[in-house]
Amino acid sequence: MTILIAAMMLVLFSSTTFANECELSISATDTMQFDKKRLSVPASCKEVTLTLAHSGQLPKSAMGHNWVLSIAGDMQAIANDGMAAGAVNSYVKPDDSRVIAHTDIIGGGESTSITFSIADLVPNNDYRFFCSFPGHWAIMQGSFSIK
Ligand code: CO
Repeated sequence: MTILIAAMMLVLFSSTTFANECELSISATDTMQFDKKRLSVPASCKEVTLTLAHSGQLPKSAMGHNWVLSIAGDMQAIANDGMAAGAVNSYVKPDDSRVIAHTDIIGGGESTSITFSIADLVPNNDYRFFCSFPGHWAIMQGSFSIK
């Protein structure tokens, strides 16, 4: 009986661990900072779910944050086009094929999440995540890697 319970707990623990590896969380502050500079997921993840939380209090019109994923070389151009697209588009140009995934813009106290496939991503590429709110990308960015 004890062995059976131990085996069941092992199965439960293993599946929980696997699922958690494909779930990422990051938070952003009123001082224009992400709390992580690196995110990584195993290549075995079919889908990745990222949750972005805004731990500050400022409204999204003043200190909005989103989470945008692209290859490093596209980041600045995506941010520039996003600024032109405006708040109504969460500062991401609609249907921008350079954008792998992105969340909406959120303000203080809010959170949002997005689920996306990494099937087309190449482990050796240099992927970056960043916030495309005007003026934020240069500071609010980090690496995204596939293990
Ligand atoms: Co931001």
